[in-house]
Amino acid sequence: MNILVLGSGGREHTFAWKIAKSSHCENLFVAPGNSGTKSIATNLDISVTDFEAIKEAVLENNIDLVVVGPEDPLVQGVHDFFLEDQDLKNVAVIGPQKAAAELEGSKEFAKEFMMRHKIPTAAYQSFTKDNVEEGYKFLESLNAPYVLKADGLAAGKGVLILNDLEEAKTELKNMLVDAKFGDASTKVVIEEFLDGIELSCFVLTDGKDYKILPTAKDYKRIGEGDTGLNTGGMGAVSPVPFVTADFLSIIENQIVKPTVDGLQKDNLPYVGFIFIGLIKVGDYPKVIEYNVRMGDPETEVVLPRLKTDLVAIFKAMASGTLADIKIEIDERAATTIMLVSGGYPEAYEKGKEITGLEKVEDSIVFHAGANDTDGKVVTSGGRVMAVTSYGDTYQEAIKKSYQNIEKLHFDKMYYRKDIGFDL
Ligand code: AMP
Ligand code: GLY
Repeated sequence: MNILVLGSGGREHTFAWKIAKSSHCENLFVAPGNSGTKSIATNLDISVTDFEAIKEAVLENNIDLVVVGPEDPLVQGVHDFFLEDQDLKNVAVIGPQKAAAELEGSKEFAKEFMMRHKIPTAAYQSFTKDNVEEGYKFLESLNAPYVLKADGLAAGKGVLILNDLEEAKTELKNMLVDAKFGDASTKVVIEEFLDGIELSCFVLTDGKDYKILPTAKDYKRIGEGDTGLNTGGMGAVSPVPFVTADFLSIIENQIVKPTVDGLQKDNLPYVGFIFIGLIKVGDYPKVIEYNVRMGDPETEVVLPRLKTDLVAIFKAMASGTLADIKIEIDERAATTIMLVSGGYPEAYEKGKEITGLEKVEDSIVFHAGANDTDGKVVTSGGRVMAVTSYGDTYQEAIKKSYQNIEKLHFDKMYYRKDIGFDL
């Protein structure tokens, strides 16, 4: 089949890398893609939210399957756009329709879903500018730290965790009354703070059945020891060493099953990935958030451990036969380290040449914010490349990635040297 991947990050390079290995894949396209996808697929210069341009490309290239990487097109309804179009309705789309994408698009929708289906999560209440005074009272009833979440998509910046009550009230006002995050914060969810260690669980579903992919742990903060500003993710490890078979079965029974059953009960068709952000509080998991796509950089460690043909899985998902698929996982650990532009996640420069790629041995370099200009690979984003390695242990895998990173260079390159430090 002919396949189109939407997106341009490390996640999409990893999807393309895995899809390119499939005997089901004839022609592979990525829109818009990056220098990494360009080496294994045809890049199309199209924005992921330009649905008309995507339609044209799908028809022109006889695309049979579209894999949606990021959340924006899903929340804007790209899957619905395909279903409603006579020429596109038979093209398979991996990613939920708009109604279910609200699990990521609206924190309040996700909380109400979890309440309805008795899925463990932090206690909460939501507020708008019309009842901001009640919001202050709710904050007074809680203990520090205070967790404020903009309801809508805010590019990963919409969650504030504050130690001081007065500061929390000020920020609540900034969000609701002064539109700190624009439309995304016309509603704010205030949550109980959960103290524990985070991990992520990835689920594939055709809307009826599901398969659980390997767990992963992401390192979100820019600084070593998990300090400083939040980023898209600075590295990842899979599997998560503290996830025992018992703990995984609790996750499956208390969270994964009720989530997939809940989608069915609520009449929310879902063909795609569910990324469940979890926090382990004592011996039990609670859901921090749902994402309706794979994580980045978690994809860079989860897909390399998947032995099963990914296109065969996608075909089964699209035809409602996921139950017939057997998922095989590589026993080895996989880790990835993100190389980022100096200054990220704040202002940084682009266009820096990346050298040393040809010297990397025994690791896979997934390109993220990198592009190909005049035969040179140059930086084009904050997160530039993810260096993934396998190992019998995660420590061995991490060591391999760091050894290869020594060979890579671009001006003001930065990476965390402590990925896995807390495991
Ligand atoms: P979210 O965008 O909902 O994943 O939140 C971003 C980050 O904020 C999470 O990865 C957690 O580190 C943190 N966080 C969110 N909700 C809570 C909570 N209720 N308790 C503690 N930390 C939280
Ligand atoms: N790495 C976190 C995310 O993809 O949202």
